[in-house]
Amino acid sequence: MQKDRLLFLFFGKYMLYLRIHFFKKPKIYKTMSTVKFYKGGNLPLELHKVRVVQKLHLVPIERRLDAMKEAGFNTFRLSTKDVFLDMLTDSGTNAMSDNQLAAMMHADDAYAGSQSFERLQKAVLDVLGKKYLLPVHQGRAAENVICRTFVKPGHVIPMNYHFTTTLAHIQECGGRVVELLHDHALELKSSHPFKGNMDIEKLEQTIQEVGVENIPFIRMEASTNLIGGQPFSMANLMDVRRIADKYGIMLVLDASLGGENAYLIQQREDNWKENSMGEILKMMTGLADLVYFSARKLSSSRGGGICTNQKALYELMEDKIPLFEGFLTYGGISVREIEAMAVGLYETLDETVISQSPTFIKYLVEELEKRGVPMVTPPGVLGAHVNAMEFCSHIPQDQYPAGALAAAFYLCSGVRGMERGTVSSVRDENGKEIPADVELLRLAVPRRVFTLSQINYVIDRMVWLYENRHLIGGLKFVYEPKVLRFFMGGLEPTYDWPSKLMEKFRKDFGDSL
Ligand code: F0G
Repeated sequence: MQKDRLLFLFFGKYMLYLRIHFFKKPKIYKTMSTVKFYKGGNLPLELHKVRVVQKLHLVPIERRLDAMKEAGFNTFRLSTKDVFLDMLTDSGTNAMSDNQLAAMMHADDAYAGSQSFERLQKAVLDVLGKKYLLPVHQGRAAENVICRTFVKPGHVIPMNYHFTTTLAHIQECGGRVVELLHDHALELKSSHPFKGNMDIEKLEQTIQEVGVENIPFIRMEASTNLIGGQPFSMANLMDVRRIADKYGIMLVLDASLGGENAYLIQQREDNWKENSMGEILKMMTGLADLVYFSARKLSSSRGGGICTNQKALYELMEDKIPLFEGFLTYGGISVREIEAMAVGLYETLDETVISQSPTFIKYLVEELEKRGVPMVTPPGVLGAHVNAMEFCSHIPQDQYPAGALAAAFYLCSGVRGMERGTVSSVRDENGKEIPADVELLRLAVPRRVFTLSQINYVIDRMVWLYENRHLIGGLKFVYEPKVLRFFMGGLEPTYDWPSKLMEKFRKDFGDSL
C-alpha cells in the first residue's frame, strides 16, 4: 500500500495538474449558457430533442388534498399518478439518452465475468481515472461498505457537510461526523461561488483535537447536497489534500454530484475556465484516495460504485461486495443498467448534457428571486432551493416549515418537491428535536426532463403561494420511524390550514387545474 500511495502522491495527482495546466491547452467551446437571443433575455435553451414521452397527471386540487392526506403530508409517500411535475429528486430520474438505451440492449447477462462490467471498468478508468472498481447497487450501499470497512466506534469523520444516508451509516458504525464548512456557507443569500468549501483551519484544528488515530478518513462531498447543491472549488480540494497528506489521512470523495461540481468549477474558478470537463473531473478524483458515487445521479442510470487506484484499499473492501451487494462483476446492479452507467459516465463530460440542469436551475432561482421569493443563492445544482424559514417565518421550526411548504406547494401546483430541513434531521439521544441548520424546500431539476414552460408554471404557482403564505400552517409527526424518518414518516397539519389554502386557490384560479 505504501508504495502505491507514494507513487500516486508524487506522480499521480501532481503530474496530472502539470499536464492539465502546462502541456495541454484544449479548445473549449462554450455551449448552452452562452446562447443569446436577438431580442434580449437569456433563456436557457434545450439542446436535445424529446423522442420518448410520458403522460403526466395534473389532478384537481380537491384530489391533491386527499392525496396529501393519504400520504401523511409527506411528499415521499405520494403516488406519481397524483403528481404533475416530479421535482422530488434527480436520483434515478434524469432522462436517459438514446445511446444509453441502445447500450442496454447489448448487455451481457453473466453472473461472473460479464463484459458489461469490463465496459464499465473502462469508463471508470477513462472518466474518473481509477483502476479498481467495486460495483454497488446505489450510493448508500457504497457508504455501507466504506463505513463497515473503515469506521470504528469512537471514530470522527470530518467532512464539508453531511448527507442523510452518509450520516446514518457513520452513526450505525459508532462514528461521529464533524462538519467543517467555512463560516459563510450557511448564509442562504450569498454570492460566494463555493459555499461547499471546507474550512482548512477548522480541519487542522479538528485533527489536532481528536487525534489522527481517530480519523479513518476525511470526506468531501461534491456539490454539497443539503445546503442547496453548493460546490467546492478545486483550490479548496487541493488544500484538503495537502492537510490529508500532512497527517497521512485518507481522503474520500463523494462524487455523486461530481459532474455538476466540475461544471461549476469550470464556470466559476478562474484557474479552470480553459479546461475541459474531463480534465477537471479527473483532477478532482485524482486528489482523492477513494471515490464513491451514486450512479443514479452521476451517470443518469441506476447503481453505484467505489473506485481507487490503491489495490490495498480495494482489497480491504472487496469481501463485502459478495456479502451485501452481489458478485464482484455486477454488485447488485442489473447488467443493463451497468451498460447505461458506462455510457452515462462518458456523457457526464458532455457540457450540453451536464449544463442543462444547472442552467435551468439558475433560471428558476433568478426568476423567483426577482419576484421576491426567498431563494438559496448562488443557484446550485440538483435543484432550486426555497428558504422555507423565511418563506414561512410565522411557522416555528418544531412545526417543520420546510415540510409544510412542500405540502402546500404540492397542493397548489401538483408539483412534488422535497423537504430538506428538520424533518430530514434526527433527534438527539434524549428524543429532543435537533433543529436543522437550514429549512429548505428543494425543487429538483433532473437532467433533460422538464421543458421551460413547465419551469414557468412552477414559477407562477410559487409566486401565488408566496403571496398567500400566511395561509400555510405547521405540521406534527403522527408516525415517526427511528432511522431516516423523512422517507416514510407520517405527519398532519396542526390545524386545518390545507382546506383554507384550497378555498383561496379556487377563489383565485376558478376551475383551473
Ligand atoms: N451522496 C450524495 C451526495 C447524495 O446526494 C446521495 C443521494 C447519496 C450519497 C446516496 O445515494 O440515493 O444512490 O443511495 N441523494 C438522493 C437525493 C437520494 O435525492 O438527493 P443513493
